[in-house]
Amino acid sequence: MIKKCLFPAAGYGTRFLPATKATPKEMLPVLTKPLIQYGVEEAVQAGIPTMAIITGRGKRAIEDHFDISYELEHQIKGTSKEHLLDQIRSLIDTCTFSYTRQVEMKGLGHAILTGETLIGNEPFAVILADDLCDGNVLEQMKNLFNKYRCSIVAIEEIPQQDTNKYGVIAGKQIEEDVYMVHTMVEKPAPEEAPSNLAIIGRYILTPDIFDILRETKPGKGGEIQITDALMTQAQRGMVLAYKFKGKRFDCGSVDGFVEATNYFYNLEKEKQ
Ligand code: UTP
Repeated sequence: MIKKCLFPAAGYGTRFLPATKATPKEMLPVLTKPLIQYGVEEAVQAGIPTMAIITGRGKRAIEDHFDISYELEHQIKGTSKEHLLDQIRSLIDTCTFSYTRQVEMKGLGHAILTGETLIGNEPFAVILADDLCDGNVLEQMKNLFNKYRCSIVAIEEIPQQDTNKYGVIAGKQIEEDVYMVHTMVEKPAPEEAPSNLAIIGRYILTPDIFDILRETKPGKGGEIQITDALMTQAQRGMVLAYKFKGKRFDCGSVDGFVEATNYFYNLEKEKQ
């Protein structure tokens, strides 16, 4: 059973400066909802009620968002705006949120290792909230985990010239959309990439990843890379890559963020 979802949210978000100078990237809104709320809703949709969030300096707004604001609720009670807090209030009522701080930003792998204290010795999900997905990707991965019981990364096909922005995998296809990983490289140059299958911000990890991360030396960019740790895990056992069904937007980039905003705006308009 996967009961916990880890949200590494300690990164600086430099691509979104100056917006991210004092506001966490994860709190940037697509329409009226911050990115991290979409992530939490995806975890809930997958039947995961416990959120473990890795924060850092300047990220307190995340904790405040997932807490009750009595003053605000009192202020809008009985007005036409009351329903605007319904969704977030229901998340606060049904989920548990715990936090730990990554004191030095030594990379995604290091952020995940920082989460060990919140996760313990059990398999868990990871959502990078700046990868905004539509299509219940985590639920699809959880179903796959129930069958194979090993770490799983979500992948999508990207243009070959973009491989230097992603972790890239190669592997043997074992069923439709599922690959057994044999190679994983962090941000390879297009001519060196083993494929155009890129890892996006959804993972299911087995807890042995923590011991592997402890041994993992800094890699690309001097950061401790989850890709390197997963490569070790694949060599020692098995890691799967899953080509998910749905749409994903790279909201860590301005282009992806604008695309997501338009997409969700059109979805909302269709509902009206
Ligand atoms: P990114 O590579 O998008 O880095 O991290 P970033 O710092 O957030 O953004 P840019 O590149 O400077 O614009 C991927 C994910 O890993 C988390 C980030 O918060 C993001 O969700 N992360 C990264 C950490 O939690 N800690 C780190 O040390 C690095």
